[in-house]
Amino acid sequence: MSRIERLLAEMTLAEKIGQLTMAPAGQAATGPFRAEATSDALRRGEVGAILNSWGAEATRRLQRIALEETRLKIPLLFGVDVLHGHKTVFPIPLAEACAFDEALWERTARAAAAEAAGDGVALTFAPMLDIARDPRWGRMAEGFGEDPLVGARFAAAKTRGFQDRDLAARDAIAATAKHFCGGGAALAGREYAAVDVSERTLHEVYLPPFRAAVEAGCAAIMAAFNSVAGVPMTAHVPLLRDHLRGRLGFDGVIMSDYNAIAELIDHGVAGDLVEAAALALRAGVDLDMVSGAFRAGLPEALARGLVEKRDIDAAVRRVLALKEKLGLFDDPWRRLKAAPVETGALALEAARRAITLLSNDGVLPLRADLRRLALIGPLADARAEMVGPWTLAADPAQCSTILDGLRAALPACEIRHASGVTIAGDESGGIAEARASCEGVEVAILCLGEAAAMSGEAASRARVDLPGRQRELAEAVLATGVPVVVLLSSGRPLILPWLVERARAVVATWFLGARAGEAIADILTGWVDPTGRLAVTWPRDRGQIPIFFAERPASRPAKKDDPFTSKYIDIANEPQFAFGHGLSYAQVALTALRVAPCEIQAGETIRVEIDAQNLSDRPARETIFLFARDLVAAAAAPVLDLKDWLKIELAPRQSATFVAELPVESLAALAADLTPRVAPGDFALYAGQSADRSRLLSARVRLNGGSSRSASHN
Ligand code: GLC
Repeated sequence: MSRIERLLAEMTLAEKIGQLTMAPAGQAATGPFRAEATSDALRRGEVGAILNSWGAEATRRLQRIALEETRLKIPLLFGVDVLHGHKTVFPIPLAEACAFDEALWERTARAAAAEAAGDGVALTFAPMLDIARDPRWGRMAEGFGEDPLVGARFAAAKTRGFQDRDLAARDAIAATAKHFCGGGAALAGREYAAVDVSERTLHEVYLPPFRAAVEAGCAAIMAAFNSVAGVPMTAHVPLLRDHLRGRLGFDGVIMSDYNAIAELIDHGVAGDLVEAAALALRAGVDLDMVSGAFRAGLPEALARGLVEKRDIDAAVRRVLALKEKLGLFDDPWRRLKAAPVETGALALEAARRAITLLSNDGVLPLRADLRRLALIGPLADARAEMVGPWTLAADPAQCSTILDGLRAALPACEIRHASGVTIAGDESGGIAEARASCEGVEVAILCLGEAAAMSGEAASRARVDLPGRQRELAEAVLATGVPVVVLLSSGRPLILPWLVERARAVVATWFLGARAGEAIADILTGWVDPTGRLAVTWPRDRGQIPIFFAERPASRPAKKDDPFTSKYIDIANEPQFAFGHGLSYAQVALTALRVAPCEIQAGETIRVEIDAQNLSDRPARETIFLFARDLVAAAAAPVLDLKDWLKIELAPRQSATFVAELPVESLAALAADLTPRVAPGDFALYAGQSADRSRLLSARVRLNGGSSRSASHN
């Protein structure tokens, strides 16, 4: 008999439910107050997992109770939010996504895992895989942006990084793909609000990143807070039991989000904790995160026949199997022996790669012989903000500020620093001093944006622009007439058309973590070339939201001079900056796109050739995006569908041809039954440096063979 079956046979109902219960340990509050795990509760075996406790002392104290003072001595599972670093803070995921580099995404997760494991952590609540197309939603900061392909690759890379090849290794931690699913489409971008998307959109857009995580072997999945089409994800039998477990074959642990089982009552689908516990367990949720609903409700649910003993046993098996895969039974102390990892260089590399140059009239890079500059704004010397949202174990004091970075990079330059205003609130007393500091400077660098707490969870913003009196400060500095460079620290695109038009350059610096200041200085001085490319569409106006490149066609696509087409009468349709946008100090032109063969069969591969030319005297590193559009399909296909991207390098003035291989299967669409099918027909293929359709190279391919179009979609 296996260890798990032996334990299961010995366990009382209370002990079984204990293994299905995660309780907080008080080191970090990541939700409304919930009672901490008491030593007595641990001794009684009422808690099997601990939320957000880390460090040798804390984890040893709690683990020792479980191993020495309980009847069955089942080790505790320690879960902590390690979203973009543990002690060493890396750029927020939305920033890191702008690198479009799966190897980098994996490396930062690997480093974070090793650091967290060394603190006794065995599971992280990451990667966050929510597609986000509404910047009002603060959690856009936590994910990879708007596109399912980027999400799928991000999911796989992060899962590999956290879990490495052997989950039992001392520096591996279990990944939790979250939040399953659809939270990014919350009504009006408001946190925790209901979601209503079509079945097709669910399968085309919101589910693919989770499929990729499952295929990469992620150990756990967290159900989202929100409902989808009226059914809360925590009780969603079709998506948890039928899709995740049935169709995808996911046999890992499904956990609720923080208190979410109890919140089935607030959703209006459960009358009390007994019903809530039964709904969640029957839907496939194994682990109750801090609500206590399983402990309070399952015994009665069992007695009332709302759940079966086999449902409880199945959940306990999955939780114990995870603990076994993590090696916790063999050596629960193994992670505390993880070797320390060097993370500084990686943090700097990731920060440099995340920075996205949005506009530049040539004022950047700064001249090396700069003598005097003004560094103005509430984010210039804001150490605590550089970490961004969701850093629990990190010390913000580790972060270098923009002021630190520029002082180190330009030792001979007089840097006049003035914060001018606070990030939020009405404080504006420093504007006059800030304006005065611009007197006689060669350039003013405006450091504007959000506080770290203005994005992440419970941080929806209706007005996604500059908070507080920052606009007043910017206007005052612009009025001086000195060249202005704007650096934006934020967890989302900020809507600032007035600033983009008047600043000489605008740089999205997001929240870059430990090495923020050096990385920003490296880019501003040209020591490093900016290569970040937007992983989300940047709106021109909040009236455009939600705005994303992969929209389905309108019945009358916009035409400039035709009023009866899909457009606004008061602003342009186009975003401020398209998905994939980003400038470098070099300038690359894509001059030709060729595809072969133009007539293809299922199972074949399309060879895509792109001619590119470096028009500058600097070496160039560019990202080329490949899109497709199924021109006639049973369900209208998006006007652009991302199929791949490639990273290219060109020497100064060099021209070259770059090749990508696109398997025909990548042109598959979901048939009427929502299963992927490669339907015969004509496809447009595009190549470009962003999703700006006015600048894409295009070609056509025809997929032959197989059944006719209509038949293939039956
Ligand atoms: C929070 C978040 C989730 C996080 C969890 C544990 O409410 O929704 O992303 O992992 O609680 O902190």
